[in-house]
Amino acid sequence: MSDPREPQSEYDLVIVGSGIAGLSFALKVAEAGYRVAIFTKKDKAESNTNYAQGGIAAVTSSGDDLDKHVQDTLEAGDGLCDPKVVHEILKDGPERIQDLIRMGVEFSSLGDGRISLGKEGGHSKRRVLHVKDVTGKAIEDALLANIAKQGVDLFEHFFAIDLITTKKLNKLGMRSSCQEDHVEGIYFLNSESDQVITVNSPVVLLATGGAGQTYLYSTNPGIATGDGIAIASRAGLSVMNLEFIQFHPTTLHSVEGDRFLITEAVRGEGAKLIDSRGQPFLKKYHPLADLAPRDVVARAIDREMKRSGAPCVRLDTPNMSVDFKDRFPNVYENCMKRGIDPTKIPIPVVPAAHYSCGGVPTGLDCSTKLSGLYACGEVACTGLHGANRLASNSLLEAVVMAHRGAESVCQYLFSKKKNRTVQLPDWVDGDVPASDERVVLSHNLEELKRAMWDYVGIVRSTKRLERAHSRLRNLRREINEYYWNAKVDVPLLELRNLVCVSELIVRSALQRKESRGLHFTLDYPDQSAKPKNTRVAPRA
Ligand code: SIN
Repeated sequence: MSDPREPQSEYDLVIVGSGIAGLSFALKVAEAGYRVAIFTKKDKAESNTNYAQGGIAAVTSSGDDLDKHVQDTLEAGDGLCDPKVVHEILKDGPERIQDLIRMGVEFSSLGDGRISLGKEGGHSKRRVLHVKDVTGKAIEDALLANIAKQGVDLFEHFFAIDLITTKKLNKLGMRSSCQEDHVEGIYFLNSESDQVITVNSPVVLLATGGAGQTYLYSTNPGIATGDGIAIASRAGLSVMNLEFIQFHPTTLHSVEGDRFLITEAVRGEGAKLIDSRGQPFLKKYHPLADLAPRDVVARAIDREMKRSGAPCVRLDTPNMSVDFKDRFPNVYENCMKRGIDPTKIPIPVVPAAHYSCGGVPTGLDCSTKLSGLYACGEVACTGLHGANRLASNSLLEAVVMAHRGAESVCQYLFSKKKNRTVQLPDWVDGDVPASDERVVLSHNLEELKRAMWDYVGIVRSTKRLERAHSRLRNLRREINEYYWNAKVDVPLLELRNLVCVSELIVRSALQRKESRGLHFTLDYPDQSAKPKNTRVAPRA
């Protein structure tokens, strides 16, 4: 990997984000000879991908087939998946798994050399390829090694602020390369030098991951602040199905509030959720009991906790089909660090915000409604997940879609004229604010996360959503006022994105007048006869 100090002022493709989607996309477009640069706001390995434990779902065994994987995905998606998209993405899975193996991912295998396949909620077959319980990290490491080998530019500590589009240039009376609204470039804050740079590029890929940090409790790392969704929305795009926030049923309960993911694969190997009296309770809620789809399990836990008043339920591991410590070394170590030996005592668990099933709508080539803007991975909404994502379909979606999207970007770049001569405006900062006002920002952040957790959680109602909406509107006004007067920095930029995305989530949830998949509201407990996607436009 070239590690130049300064990015160039122009690329053919700028990628924002260095998880599985961004890295896979970069490799393919760079292979075709285009100038590609990846920008990431933290260290290169700090992505949601890096924290994925369970694995990557694909049909790779003789007892399984594509139709079963499609059927499981459609069932989990609760009537809202796009069947064509589901078929197209899942069918490419096995080939993309082979790519990952070629790039050096060593999936766990059985003693006889066959790949070991895990099971997770909603899957009718064992089909989850994994590297023990650190699958995401293994994939991230392999992709980064290939990025380095191929010499793709990767810049750390660059925060994407906003796109520069034809429309924006026209407003400033500047010349642009096209008539229609189109991506022309992007502003990045170099958070080490505190300088904002302008990068000229006809194509930008958003691969920024999810928005788990909109909630007080989340499995996501701190970087998951919905940056790509906010950037796309500010560029004029609507978001799709953003009300479907997946709460992972099992994260380690701690009084300090940090939430460590306990992979669903633990239940796949026989662990059972038990209530405050030590009784298994999932059979009451779904015939698949502990391996029911995730929305059902999270809601059941929420109900049991409310019924009993207990702060958590527990995950009991006495009859596991594997050696816990060997199969789940990461979970084991993290439980032990908190004084819990999972092989001896049931693990205290609670649900936490985990995955955004909606996002920036894209076609099957990652393209969006804004010419030159592409989105891939959790930031995007392809139609695969519908109202509830099937476990371990997300890494698969990212790697399949990156391949498809990269082919489409290469064709697009090939058809475009070379040597664009677009003059882009420099960034202009606001005045430096008085330092005592900074405290308001951290209070805003706490208030936002608390409002989302209390009012936009697993069980919703119109009143709760409206309450959240009014709080978020006020927060947005305050934060934006601050933003337009301040010299930008990362906490401010993240907060601006978080309030934008939180409001989009709430507006999407208010639009859905039914309960479906991950969106359950007491005011509309039934499903409407005709499933529909929600679309929320940016505020004027
Ligand atoms: C898990 O390991 O339980 C999470 C996997 C996923 O979210 O798909």
